[in-house]
Amino acid sequence: MINASTRLCCLIGHPIGHSVSPQMHNAAFRALGLNYVYLAFDVSPKMLADAVAGLRALGVAGFNVTIPHKVAVMRLLDELDRSAERTGAVNTVVNHHGVLRGYNTDLHGIRRALEGRGPPILMPALVIGAGGAARAAVVALIDLGFRRILIANRTIEKSLALAEIARSLGALVEVLDLDEGRRRAVECGVVVNATPVGMYPDTSATLLMAEEMRRGMIVLDLVYNPPKTRLLKEAKRAGAVPVSGLDVLVYQGAEAFKLWTGVDPPIEIMRRAAIEALEGDRGDEGR
Ligand SMILES: NC(=O)c1ccc[n+]([C@@H]2O[C@H](COP(=O)([O-])OP(=O)(O)OC[C@H]3O[C@@H](n4cnc5c(N)ncnc54)[C@H](OP(=O)(O)O)[C@@H]3O)[C@@H](O)[C@H]2O)c1
Repeated sequence: MINASTRLCCLIGHPIGHSVSPQMHNAAFRALGLNYVYLAFDVSPKMLADAVAGLRALGVAGFNVTIPHKVAVMRLLDELDRSAERTGAVNTVVNHHGVLRGYNTDLHGIRRALEGRGPPILMPALVIGAGGAARAAVVALIDLGFRRILIANRTIEKSLALAEIARSLGALVEVLDLDEGRRRAVECGVVVNATPVGMYPDTSATLLMAEEMRRGMIVLDLVYNPPKTRLLKEAKRAGAVPVSGLDVLVYQGAEAFKLWTGVDPPIEIMRRAAIEALEGDRGDEGR
């Protein structure tokens, strides 16, 4: 029950209508009997500083940050965790007794989704996309031990900027256009889609077909709506190992939950709540 002691966690972003984080976190709070609640607030870029000042004044336990604020929020915080410094973005903030500390739990989520699959670190890894999620993917792959990274993106300038970051972390990097990325995917042990291609409602779209993949390679699609994207279906057809962005969503959320509450989260309950919320969301749109 919500009462005078209830702690607040929330999401700030713009837009936030399709987020499933409220369902995922509230299900976990309920399951563990924690007196917390999670809400989502649509905050426009011009209100970001006021929103962060307000959350600080209210003494919230912490908050998530999503598009378009993941970089802009950094200068409004008191401290940055290494995960935020290395990825150049914050998706989770913890209020440590009035000190706001920024983390990047997407990095943890991507690492955790891949490490259980025994990624072949001696092979190259291909990251498609060069935005915020691609950046977290590149750092995660380097953390896992990959040394050769191929970056394929539509806009070359963004790939070059990401390549610089990867090189500064010790990786050997090649920058490719999307067609070259498609051709070179078979050389790789891991492919990560860090673009929105394949996301609902355009669910028949894919940047790679089964014929461009190899048996045994790991294919992680950061798109989580739907959880089984066309890319992952193509991966299955090729005999590759499909890994859903839903895993990353749940693991990044679980890490944030632990940072806010100090308690190990009920991962399967979070996963089920996220899937039900995604299914409900599509149902609403269909009406
Ligand atoms: N599973 C999770 O927990 C999780 C976490 C974070 C993000 N994501 C997902 O990851 C995806 C990317 O997010 P982001 O934050 O990195 O977004 P972003 O910063 O806007 O970057 C998007 C990237 O995708 C590329 N792109 C966009 N549309 C494309 C198209 N039609 N064809 C080819 N490339 C295209 C962009 O290319 P240009 O450089 O040419 O513009 C850019 O490199 C989103 O779908 C997001 O939902 C999932």
